[in-house]
Formats: sequence, C-alpha cells, structure tokens
Amino acid sequence: MKQFNIVVCLLLGLTLITSCEEISTITSPVEVDTDFAPQSITFGSPNRLILVNVTDAEGQPSYSVTYNGQLAIASSNFGMRFQSKAPLDYGYKISDVRRKGEQNETWEQPWGEAKVIRDYHYGIEIDFVSLSRPNYGYTLEFRVFNDGLGFRYKIPEIVCGKSCNIVDELTEFTVPGDATAWWLKGDGFNRLEYIYETTPVREQATLVLTPYTLRQANGVHVSIHEAALVDYASMTLRQQRDGNLKAELRPWSDGIAVKKSGAFTTPWRTIQIAPSAAALANSRMILNLNEPNVLGDVSWVKPSKYIGIWWAMHIGANTWESGENHGATTENAIRHIDFAHEHGFDGVLIEGWNVGWDGDWFFNGDLFSFTEPYPDFDLQRVTSYASEKGVKLIGHHETSGNVTNYERQMEAAFDLYQSLGVNQIKTGYVADASDIKWVGKDGIPRYEWHDGQFMVRHHLKVVEEAAKRQISINPHEPVKDTGLRRTYPNWITREGARGMEFNAWGTPPNPPEHIPVMAFTRMLSGPMDFTPGIFNLFPNGEENENRPQTTLSKQLASFVILYSPLQMAADLIENYEARPQAFEFVKDVPVDWERSIALSGEVGDFIVMARQERDSPNWYIGAASDEEERNISIALNFLAPDTQYEATIYSDVEETHWEDNPYAMAINTATVDSSQTINTRLAPGGGLAMSLKPVVE
Ligand code: NOJ
Ligand code: CA
Repeated sequence: MKQFNIVVCLLLGLTLITSCEEISTITSPVEVDTDFAPQSITFGSPNRLILVNVTDAEGQPSYSVTYNGQLAIASSNFGMRFQSKAPLDYGYKISDVRRKGEQNETWEQPWGEAKVIRDYHYGIEIDFVSLSRPNYGYTLEFRVFNDGLGFRYKIPEIVCGKSCNIVDELTEFTVPGDATAWWLKGDGFNRLEYIYETTPVREQATLVLTPYTLRQANGVHVSIHEAALVDYASMTLRQQRDGNLKAELRPWSDGIAVKKSGAFTTPWRTIQIAPSAAALANSRMILNLNEPNVLGDVSWVKPSKYIGIWWAMHIGANTWESGENHGATTENAIRHIDFAHEHGFDGVLIEGWNVGWDGDWFFNGDLFSFTEPYPDFDLQRVTSYASEKGVKLIGHHETSGNVTNYERQMEAAFDLYQSLGVNQIKTGYVADASDIKWVGKDGIPRYEWHDGQFMVRHHLKVVEEAAKRQISINPHEPVKDTGLRRTYPNWITREGARGMEFNAWGTPPNPPEHIPVMAFTRMLSGPMDFTPGIFNLFPNGEENENRPQTTLSKQLASFVILYSPLQMAADLIENYEARPQAFEFVKDVPVDWERSIALSGEVGDFIVMARQERDSPNWYIGAASDEEERNISIALNFLAPDTQYEATIYSDVEETHWEDNPYAMAINTATVDSSQTINTRLAPGGGLAMSLKPVVE
C-alpha cells in the first residue's frame, strides 16, 4: 500500500503548539481479511501452575491466564492506538513465535529486602502482523514466573516512524467471577494518598491505580501492576464492562498519552498470581522484570535510619516557614544531631531550611530557592557539626510541584549538598493531581499529572543527576514504584501512599487496617518512606481524632513490616526519651535485609513478616492486626536449626486497645529455637515486634 508522510503540528486549545508528529496518511480504507487459520499458543511458568494462552482468533490478539487449572484472567485484548498511525488493534494475526525457553538465574541486590533474588522464568516472543498491510505489526514479549507473568509491547520503527503519539493502550485484564478488590481511585486530587477501599470488582471506582490487588473466590490472589516504567505514561485501570479492566495511560496536558520516536518497548504489564496473600507479598517478580544496575559501584548508596525536624511541623508545634516557631534553626538541628549521635541514627532530616516556605507553601512552587538557607539556619555549620558527630544531614527539596523552578536550580542544589557531604535528599511534589507545573520554551505554563510521561522522565532525570554526585533520592508525592531501584539503586525509597503524616492532620487518619492492607498492595511495588515510630499516640491531645490508630507495639512492628532502606524514627526527641525501653527496639531494628518472608496474613486483616538482617544471623518479626483482636501462631522454622536464639518480644497485653489503652505493652525475653511456635494475641489495632539473636555461649 502506498503511503506518504507529512508533518502536522496540532494546535490545541489556547496553549498553541502542543504536539507535533509525523503522520502516515493512508491512501485507501483498510479491508481486514479475517479468513485465515487462527493460531493459539499456550505456554507456562516453570512449575506449570500458570498457563498463558495467546490467540489471534478473529484477528483480535488476546490472551487468558489460568492458575492451577482455574481461570485467573479471562479473555483480554492487546492493542494500541496512535494519533495518526494505523492502529494496532483488530486485524492482526500471529506471524512468528520465538521460544526463549527457561532462564534460571540468581542476582544480588546491593541493598534490599533480600540479598539474593531468583529469576526463574519462561520467555517467549510472539509477532503479530497486520492482515491488510504486510510488514506492519508488533511483537509481544512474555516472561512467565512461578509467581506471575509480565508482557510488554515491542513496537518497530515501521509503526512509529520518526515520531508517534500514542493516544490509547488497549491492554485488558479481565477478572473472572466474583473477586474482592483493594483499590485506590485513579483520579483523586490527592494522587496516591487515599485510604484503600475494599469492594467486589464490579463496585470499585471506574478508574483505579496500580498495584491493584484482588482475591478471587477460590482464594487465589492477583496483583496487577507494571514494571520498569521508563519514558512512558503510568498505567491506570478503567473498568469497562463488569470485570473488564482496560489500561488507561495518564495523558500529557495536551491529551496525548505517550510521545515516542522510532522503535520502542513499553513497560512490562504485570500480573502477580499467588495461592495466598502471604505468597503474594513474597513475590519478587517486579524486580526481576527490571534491568540490572546501570550505575556500577553503588557502595555509596547507604541504607540508613534517621530522625528529623519533621513531625513537630506536621502536628503544628513548629513551622516550615520562618518566624518564631521555625523548626529549621541551627540550634534545633544541633539538638537533633546530638540525639542522633547518642542513639546511633545515621541521619537527620531538616525540612524548612531554605528560602521560599513563607505564606502558604503549598502554592510556593515558583518561590523556592534550593541553595539559599534562611538566615537562622547555618547550613555550613550544621553540616560540619554533623560530620564531627558521624551523622549525615539529609537534604530536602520541596518543589510544590513546580518542576521548571526545580530543574533550573537542581544541578547547583545537588552540587551544594555534595560539597557539604549530604548524600541523601528527600524531594517533594506537593500539588494536586494534574497540577504539576512546567513552563515551555514559549513561556507558557502547562500542568501535568504526577504520573504522566512528563513526570516519569523528570524523576529519572533527578535520579541520574543525583547519581553523578553519589546522592540518593527519596521522592514524596512521587510516581508509583515499578522496581527501578534495581536499575538505579540510588532511587532508594519514596512515599507514594498515605504515610504517617495523615495521622497528624488527615481527615480521617489512617484506619487500623491501613498497614495490613498496604502490606499486600502498595508494598508490592517497593519500599516506602512511611515514617513509622510515633510514641506519643495522642500528638494533638486526648480529644483530637488525628492520631495513629495503633497500639505502641504496632508502631514498633511497622519498622519490620513496612520495608524501607531509609527508615525514619518519626517522633519527637522527648517522646523517645519518655519511653526508653520501647525505643530500644527502634534503635536496634535494621534497615537492610538478607531475607524477608511474609509468614502469614490476609489482606486488610493482619500480616506477620519475618526478616533476617543483612550479613547477620539475627531475625526480626513484625505483626500487625486491623481493628480486630486476633490470635496468631508464628512457627519459628525459618531460624537456623540447632541454634538457640534469645527472643525479645514487644507485645500487646490483655487490656491493650488502640483506642483507649494503646501504651499497654509487655516486653519479655525467652530462649527459643526453630522447632518452636510462638502463640500470641494482637490487640484491636495492635501488633507485635520481636528480635531473635543467637545466644552467645
Ligand atoms: C509532604 C511530604 O509527604 C511530607 O513528608 C513533607 O514534610 C511535606 N510534604 C513538606 O515537604
Ligand atoms: Ca505526602
């Protein structure tokens, strides 16, 4: 078929030139001939429990998945549409299949929830070609693991040409039967920071975010998400017909979903499948679908535990802005550095140190300086004092969503921090969803989503610039995690869910089930800077609703359950000083792990997590309940055999209740071994924290 190319620039709305692409103009209407012998290809996970069927029946590429003989994903379409290229939707047949076979390897994380990760999968590539245009088509690459599958589109240059604009991805995930879903709505102003909802799939919001977790009627757990989100838009899921969830890409401000040039590969679309909630939490598939480390030696990326000038501002005792209650003063910083030094913390986070916070900082994106401290904060003195004490200042860059203002100053700001020995920076993008501001070369401001292609590119740019200076990045109000810490290990943690801050001022605060939901939803995507460890459980006074809805022992347990290589002990110095025994656990708990095992749990009900400290025989356990009290049994069979361990156990007692008696906690020690089972009770909103260390003779 004869085609010719012209370049067209689209003029949309008042923003003038917003998008240009080379358009392939098709000279005659497409006649699709579906009179061909359809093919159906089935392949499976190494253990054959997961089987994937891909077909081109009726010229519509589609797939379905079974787990243990039962349908996990019913017939679901593939496809993609462009602004002005022939669509990759209906009218395609399988033209070639390349079976890559089984790969069974292990690789090591420089830091992580586990040191060694096994990548055991079956790989296959399937080519589709148009029934009406020879040579026009695409490839789907699949990897099927024992804990799920990933697939991605490989779009050749013949489709995209020099440039192309994706307007719609047609990938579907059809959930069969009655399943329960845990979800966050996809278009709320507060981005990822909502309380998870639990409903049947057909009653969920029309648009939901990923990771999106399901429990099917047969008890099989499924999580839909994506891996290696690079230079593409985040995928959300739109329910079309009941149970039929279709990918919806977060668009640019000009309405285009994704802008590409030449041949390209999409992020992996992922479906984790497990027989139980705990097995789902033990999946490492998202990491396996990311590319290996591209930064080389990353021994400068240091997992660490930190305190900071932070919670006082969230509960209103201090301010970010200058004035008499300014938190970020030299004196206050030194007080925190002394405390960190005395108690073995690695870092001190100081927010509100730089010019720009005065007034309503939510709207100060244009005003922030990232190099100029307030006059009452002596940055040089604070960093040199910290260094004398063996403590690191943790840097802070709140952008309030103005990316142009940040990018203009970013390199100078990183240089400044690097020259002062600061090697971790918390960034922030506080702005309503779709209010991320950037100013084009034409001087016109545009407003983007936090998770469109624009921000996906921005976050990686920040991480790459930081890496050049051996700085690690912890973004708040980030794009969701898709496992890129494997490729860029200095992308060390992030927020990306409702964190502790909501217990200071959120309406309502995080409910007791928040942690047992997050352990099987948000936490599947990667580490979170949740900032646990609040010891004053009525921080706004006894009558105020804004408080952590947990017991004290659940605060301790959170350090183990909510994995983050940067873990903040978030409360005020005086609240730790008031409870020195409980504080011992906060000081002791590690942040870098040899192994992690979710031992048991149910989404939204409870979680029991065990982790072995990196390069150490010590184990730690964290358990948390929702608003119900419950008895749990923890079999210690993961411990080394024939070894006696001293267990230190922080547990709720009979009268503990998150609501009116949250501090009641027993601290016991016992000598245990791997043959034993610990039976214990979690209070309503309660938890349990435990360390297990080999007895030294
Ligand atoms: C929101 C972040 O989540 C929080 O941790 C931070 O203190 C404020 N923004 C100010 O940057
Ligand atoms: Ca936040």
